[in-house]
This record gives sequence, structure tokens and C-alpha cells, in this order.
Amino acid sequence: MPIAINGQTRLVGIFGDPITHTRSPAMHNAAFRACQLPYAYVPLLVHPSDLAKAVQAIRAYNLVGVNVTVPHKERIVRHLDELSEEATLCGAVNTVVNRDGVLFGDNTDGRGFLASLQQRGFSPHQRDIVLIGAGGSTRAVLFSLIRAGSKRITIVNRTLAKAQALIRTYRTLGQARLEAAPLDRLLDPALLQDATLVVNCTSVGLHDEPFLPINLTTTPRHCLFYDLLYRPELTTFLRQAHNARRTTMDGRSMLLHQGALAFSLWTAQPAPLQVMARALARALRTS
Ligand code: ATR
Repeated sequence: MPIAINGQTRLVGIFGDPITHTRSPAMHNAAFRACQLPYAYVPLLVHPSDLAKAVQAIRAYNLVGVNVTVPHKERIVRHLDELSEEATLCGAVNTVVNRDGVLFGDNTDGRGFLASLQQRGFSPHQRDIVLIGAGGSTRAVLFSLIRAGSKRITIVNRTLAKAQALIRTYRTLGQARLEAAPLDRLLDPALLQDATLVVNCTSVGLHDEPFLPINLTTTPRHCLFYDLLYRPELTTFLRQAHNARRTTMDGRSMLLHQGALAFSLWTAQPAPLQVMARALARALRTS
């Protein structure tokens, strides 16, 4: 059923470039309908050189707020009035809330990641975790894992200096022991022997890149493999994990939960998670 647009309707948007791939409108419009909220969620193609004007338009059009995706997540930070602790420490925003013209930037990616693990019954508390990649998505995940009380987090990255820089920034955030390692250490059994969660935060698997050089069979049997990518459904990383008979999670769950948290920021009510999950699954099937 299409959303009813009338004089009461208020807009929520998503800023990105490109933006045609986004599945967030399906998920959020289904949620707004289910909760009978007079909101409509639309994709907004924003060229990087227009970002400042687009942020002004949030106020000018009295938008409820926006989601922010590539390539604006980092650049939008300096245009906002207030930031959450996550957004400040990750240097990136994925959700903006318009509080009577005061624009508050938050980052729900890390909390969405934790919520997805919780739904799976996995607690990262006191666990040994390996993150592959040291880009923007690693920051959000790393922040949330430190705050959740993980024991040891190893960041493995092709460019070692980027992993080391992340560690310097996040070292004082919690008790977790943070370590950096180059990509070839994924073949070293010592790196993975105690791991209970291995997360692919790189874009490897999105296109036809080579497999990550990882020896999955050296991980404990119960180790969970999580790929932040949500497309394709079975990334090369997850196929490697399946072949090693390990349990897996893909990025759909994080996408859902970061969206649910954004919904609550805009509406001050709990998100209809089942409705959003069904809408997201449908949207991904038809893409
Ligand atoms: P995002 O914001 O999604 O995290 P990003 O900031 O561009 O994206 O980071 C991409 C990550 O994937 C980086 O850690 C990158 O490694 P480098 O820091 O060495 O560039 C990693 N990555 C991308 N392609 C890769 C490949 N073919 N092999 C290994 N790592 C790769």
C-alpha cells in the first residue's frame, strides 16, 4: 500500500551519491505505515559539492531528519550542530535528527551491529575478536565492541599503518587489548586460535575481488563469522566460512538494526522490527 501524502506529511530523507541502490526507503516507509506516522522517507541524491546546502535544507524544509550514506558520512560532521559520542569518536554520522532547527548527528552503525549480535544470542563481552579492515565501518564496530567489554580485539588490515592509527585513537576508550596486524597474519593459526568472532569490515567480496587470505579452520568450532556486506547474500568471505562449517551472519542484520535505531531517534518510539525486517528482505530480493 503506498504511503498517503497530504498536508500533514513530514519528510525523512537519505543523503547519498549514488543513492539508487538504497533499500532504506522500503524499510522505513513500511515502519512509518505500520506505526501510522505521517512521515515519508525519500532518497535524496546529494552531490558532494552541494552537501552544505543540503544540510541547510533539512532546516528549511523542516525535515524530521535524514540518514547519511557514502560519500557524506564523514564530511557531514562539520555541518551539524551537535554530535553523539559515537559520531564524535567515529568521525562519521549516519543519522541526523532535526530538533527544532538544531541538527543532532548520531551514528547507529555500531549499536546496530551490537543489536544484531544480541539478537543472535552472541555477547562480545570478554571475547577475543578479529576485525578485518580499518576503514569507516571498522571504526563503528570497534567502538561498540570496546564499549561492550570485549577482551582483545585484533585489527587486521592490508595497510598496517591504518590499523595502528585506529588503535592509537581508540586505546583509551575501554579495557580491551587492541592489536594491529598485517593481512597475511590471517594465515597464522596463532592469530585465530582463540577468536570467537571474526568480522569482515572490508569491501572484499562486493565485486569480484580475490578471496581474503584466511585459514578459517584454525578458528574454534564455535567461532562466528560476520560479513558487514549485505550484498551478495553469500559473499566470498561467508562462502569460505560455510566451507569450513562455521556459523555466519551477513550485513542485513546490521542494516536492519541501524535502521531501527534511527527510526527510534526520529520518532521517540520503538521500531517495528518485524515489519522492517520483512520490508528489507522484500526490497533486497527484488533488487
Ligand atoms: P568502509 O567505510 O566501508 O569501511 P573504506 O573506509 O573505504 O570503507 O575501507 C575499506 C577497507 O577495505 C580498508 O580497510 C581497505 O584496506 P586498506 O586500508 O589497505 O585500503 C580494505 N580493502 C579494500 N579492498 C581490499 C582488498 N582487495 N584486500 C584487502 N583489503 C581491502
